[in-house]
Amino acid sequence: MQNAIINADNVSVYYGSSLAVSGVNLAINTNQITAFIGPSGCGKSTILRCFNRLNDLIAGARVKGKITFGSHDLYDPKMDPVAVRRRIGMVFQRPNPFPKSIYENIAFGPRINGFKGTKGDMDDLVERSLRSAAIWNEVKDKLKESGLALSGGQQQRLCIARAIATEPEVILMDEPCSALDPISTLSIEELMQELKQNFTLVIVTHNMQQASRTADMTAFFNTEIDASGKRTGKLVEIDRTSTIFSSPKQTATEEYISGRFG
Ligand SMILES: Nc1ncnc2c1ncn2[C@@H]1O[C@H](COP(=O)(O)OP(=O)(O)O)[C@@H](O)[C@H]1O
Ligand SMILES: [Mg+2]
Repeated sequence: MQNAIINADNVSVYYGSSLAVSGVNLAINTNQITAFIGPSGCGKSTILRCFNRLNDLIAGARVKGKITFGSHDLYDPKMDPVAVRRRIGMVFQRPNPFPKSIYENIAFGPRINGFKGTKGDMDDLVERSLRSAAIWNEVKDKLKESGLALSGGQQQRLCIARAIATEPEVILMDEPCSALDPISTLSIEELMQELKQNFTLVIVTHNMQQASRTADMTAFFNTEIDASGKRTGKLVEIDRTSTIFSSPKQTATEEYISGRFG
């Protein structure tokens, strides 16, 4: 049995008075890739954002239940959300490099987190991060050029390098390939397999093939509609990816993966 690095215990998220997602229990295993799948609006991004306290930045969002990160309660008032986001990084759907040089895109995070090394140490960290994100060879001769001048797939790998630079334990990726062409998508998927040696990955994807190709564990979320027409996201089941795609326990999962809805 794998060690869990993140545990969600009966987690519900409200936006104002509306219950967006309810009663989620799941564990994220260390050095594995966990994929969140399910139809649009079922709360995948909402739960992902709980894991690095990004919902704190959304006015009206409230998180109930308990989320632990290692032995820490993520929502303990003593936890510093900025420190949480250094240890649990995020990569978004649209590549969003800073309008700065490639070098500065990587150096920025460590610097604001109090990097104490010399210029040479920073050069090493920049190189290591870009190498880990499999983009060093493409950018090593143009570190002073703008990150925005890269292709979409390169920008996304730059954003992954930027996330790696603060040496997180977990990297969250919300539909990281949905703005990319198929070749860039495959290069990011290959990269994920390398990254899981050193990091724990949680990815949201609407692409079931991507989940089945990349993930160790897959969580299926769905929207439930109550008698009054209210829609609430639920975690239907989480299991080994091979089990989810070959013999899921819940009918709703079976219907979704066989394309009957969603
Ligand atoms: N910032 C927000 N403010 C209000 N409602 C939101 C916000 N973000 C998401 N929601 C609502 O929460 C529900 C879950 O959304 P989301 O987590 O984005 O789903 P998914 O990522 O699975 O498509 C949806 O009903 C959505 O409209
Ligand atoms: Mg989403």
